[in-house]
Amino acid sequence: MEFRALGNTSLRVSRVGLGTVKLGRNEGVKYPRAFPLPSDEQVRSLLEGALVMGVRLFDTAPAYGSSEQRLGAFVQAHRDELVLSTKCGESFSDGRSTFDYSAAALRASVEGSLKRLRTEMLDILLIHSNGDDVGILEHSEAVETLLRLKEEGKCRAVGISAKTVEGVEAAAKSLDVVMAPYSLADRSLERALAAAHEKGLGILVIKGLASGHLGAEGPDGVDRALQHVFSRDFVDSLVVGTLSLDHLAAAVDASHRSSPGE
Ligand SMILES: NC(=O)c1ccc[n+]([C@@H]2O[C@H](COP(=O)([O-])OP(=O)(O)OC[C@H]3O[C@@H](n4cnc5c(N)ncnc54)[C@H](OP(=O)(O)O)[C@@H]3O)[C@@H](O)[C@H]2O)c1
Repeated sequence: MEFRALGNTSLRVSRVGLGTVKLGRNEGVKYPRAFPLPSDEQVRSLLEGALVMGVRLFDTAPAYGSSEQRLGAFVQAHRDELVLSTKCGESFSDGRSTFDYSAAALRASVEGSLKRLRTEMLDILLIHSNGDDVGILEHSEAVETLLRLKEEGKCRAVGISAKTVEGVEAAAKSLDVVMAPYSLADRSLERALAAAHEKGLGILVIKGLASGHLGAEGPDGVDRALQHVFSRDFVDSLVVGTLSLDHLAAAVDASHRSSPGE
């Protein structure tokens, strides 16, 4: 597995990360097919198998249903081997999301995440954007609160899971990390992400397979899509949202065969 320095942070991330939405939430998601939540044994075997493959970055969020809770025992057993990323600002219950970027709500969210994840410190804490990236970054208590939480030792790096060019640009002014969608199907943030990377931000790419919609193109199409993402130098890690160790292995394999600049 290739490892990358995550921008100017002290963290090193595996080029392939595991996204864990599907561990805990199967309603209000944009996947092509409905799916049942995995059993406890399936979760255990996916997480342990990912570790054996060299995956060290695990991404979750309070808004991913029971995902954080289901990661807890694994995190407790392997804490020093993992780079753990979670989010704050969005919660999901009764089938709908609500957003609150006040200092009190963000702090309460982080305390809940630390308990569910059975750890005293997060590695990466991201603002879970509702789409109004700039509004959140410039007109809420979020940035100041996350920077304080970092000073207090609750996390090692702070960032935003952004959705817009303007959000990526604004994040570069004060944060350490940007998570954002990028794929063959959606290159709209490419320039902004490359520029943010140049400025020293760590870049975590999501939706490299367009939430599975690029899976319809068969294994060759999937491989092309994965190699495209890994060929981009600004991508420190691609977080793949899978329940399948075979699919995770396909991403690891593509990462080995792609080199930036191709
Ligand atoms: N912050 C945010 O706003 C936000 C939003 C969305 C996602 N995320 C993070 O990003 C992660 C990834 O996002 P995502 O899950 O939407 O996008 P994704 O990684 O592009 O797509 C995942 C989908 O692709 C399928 N897939 C994966 N590998 C495959 C392969 N080799 N062949 C065929 N199908 C394959 C998966 O199905 P299988 O389970 O069958 O493999 C799953 O349905 C999430 O888990 C989460 O951690 C963050």
